[in-house]
Amino acid sequence: MKDNKRVKKERKWWDKLAPNYDRHVEKNWKIYPSLLDKICEDIETGSTVLDVATGTGSVALKIARRVKQVYAVDISASMVKEAEKKMHEKEIGNVKFSVQDAYSLPFDDGTFDTVVCKNALHNMVKPTKALSEIKRVLKPGGRLIATITGIGESRRFKLMMTIYRFFTAFPAFHKLNLEEAADMIEKSGFTVVKREIIKHPEDTLPLIYIVAERRSNEPYS
Ligand SMILES: C[S@@+](CC[C@H](N)C(=O)[O-])C[C@H]1O[C@@H](n2cnc3c(N)ncnc32)[C@H](O)[C@@H]1O
Repeated sequence: MKDNKRVKKERKWWDKLAPNYDRHVEKNWKIYPSLLDKICEDIETGSTVLDVATGTGSVALKIARRVKQVYAVDISASMVKEAEKKMHEKEIGNVKFSVQDAYSLPFDDGTFDTVVCKNALHNMVKPTKALSEIKRVLKPGGRLIATITGIGESRRFKLMMTIYRFFTAFPAFHKLNLEEAADMIEKSGFTVVKREIIKHPEDTLPLIYIVAERRSNEPYS
C-alpha cells in the first residue's frame, strides 16, 4: 500500500481509537445490534462476502457462520488486530482479515457475491474511488450493502459535525443525505434497490442504509 498523505489522514484517527472502538460504538450507536441483523437479512446464506473498512470486524464476525467465506479489510492495522483478537476468541475459521486500502483491493475482478461497507464511505477522502474498486471485485449483479452516517440529513447535524470535527479532528470528509448518497452510488455503476434512513431513538445521528446491485453491463474498471 502506498503510504501517502491521504492514507495517513484516513488511518491516524482510527489507529488511536481501535482499542476503545467497541466501547465508543456501544455508547454512540444503539442501532448497531439491529443494524447487524438487518445486514444479515440482506446477505444470502452460503455466499462469498467482502467487508470493506471492517473496523473491529462487527459485520464480518456476525455474518461468518451464515456464509461460505468472508474477507475483511481495513486501512488501520490496529483495527484489524482488534478484529482478529475477537475472531480467535469466537473460534471463527472462515474470515480472513487484512490491512488494505479500499482504493486498491487485492482481489480479482468479479470475486464477491456481496460487499458490505458499514459506516465508512463518509470517512474516506474519495469514496467514489472505493466504490469503483467495490464494483470491480463484485460479480455482475452482486450486491453492495452500504451504511453511511446521515450527517447531511439536516443543517443541525452538519453544524454539529463541523464543530465536533474542529475539536476532535474526526475524519468525516462528507456530509451526505440519503439522496446524495444514493446518487453517488448510482453514478458509480450500481442500481440502488433499497434506500432508507434508520435511527435509534437514543442515537444522535441517523444512518443511511442502501442496498445496490452492480449493473451487469458495467465494465470491471
Ligand atoms: C466508522 S469506522 C467503521 C468500522 C466498521 N465498518 C463498523 O461499522 O464498525 C470507519 C473505518 O473505515 C476505515 N477506513 C477509512 N479509510 C479507509 C480506506 N481507504 N480503506 C480501508 N478502510 C478505511 C477506518 O480505518 C475505520 O476502521
